[in-house]
Amino acid sequence: MIIRFPEFDLANATPHWGDNHEACAIINSGAIIVPEIERYLIKVMRQAAELLDPVRDADLLQDIDLFNRQEGQHRKLHAELVTMLANNGYPKLKELEAGFIADLNGFLAEKPLEWNIAYCEGFESSGTALAEGWLDGHVAALCEDRGSEVMRMWMWHMTEEFEHRSVVHDVLERLYGPDKAFELRCLGATENRAHLGTHSYPALQYILEIDRASMTPDEVADSLLREQQAITAMMARNAEPNTWVFQPGYDPRAVTAPAGWAGLLEEYAPA
Ligand SMILES: [Fe+2]
Ligand SMILES: [Fe+2]
Repeated sequence: MIIRFPEFDLANATPHWGDNHEACAIINSGAIIVPEIERYLIKVMRQAAELLDPVRDADLLQDIDLFNRQEGQHRKLHAELVTMLANNGYPKLKELEAGFIADLNGFLAEKPLEWNIAYCEGFESSGTALAEGWLDGHVAALCEDRGSEVMRMWMWHMTEEFEHRSVVHDVLERLYGPDKAFELRCLGATENRAHLGTHSYPALQYILEIDRASMTPDEVADSLLREQQAITAMMARNAEPNTWVFQPGYDPRAVTAPAGWAGLLEEYAPA
């Protein structure tokens, strides 16, 4: 793991960065999740690090440090993406993001640390599961992307998500042992996925409502069809990988690297 500092011109990007606007809307609705969940991951991993042994767990502590620094970079660039979307026709996304932040702050204040680490692993396991669909170009093709800065930024992010996929998993295993870690990661994946949907789906409906306000009835019908086609294609692609985390012996290290991953690591390597 290394820290990369790629640059993407997100301020001058457009919300319709690919030709399939409904597929882009699905990705854009997820944008409100990312900056703050990255901040939350960093906070939870810092608390977890306090429970580890500086000598015995030195390697894992170093991994946590690199993980946190990667997530910090993801947070910074994804915050620019949310700002671009809010400034280009979707101002209420900031309000929707604020609702998500309030939930995360509530989790930190009210839930035990083990629950919060489990929730983090729920999120990280999704990154591992979804990485191939992103990195082999499936998502870009669905969005009819033609090399946009937004897609490039997401692909850099997913490249690093795959790179640091085992860190939170290892923290759970180290702190709680394999049996309880298994229970916690099943709980965390279930909680995290359900929770994210309660925020990203209203964001999607808000984005599409704005887009459809200027469409004719026929155009709205076509838009509804494209929305459903994109959702179905993404769900079909992710259905099996999303089950991996629920297997008792789940080990993110054993997941085959997505086609395209090695090339992207090189593309974003520091000069
Ligand atoms: Fe990240
Ligand atoms: Fe991550």
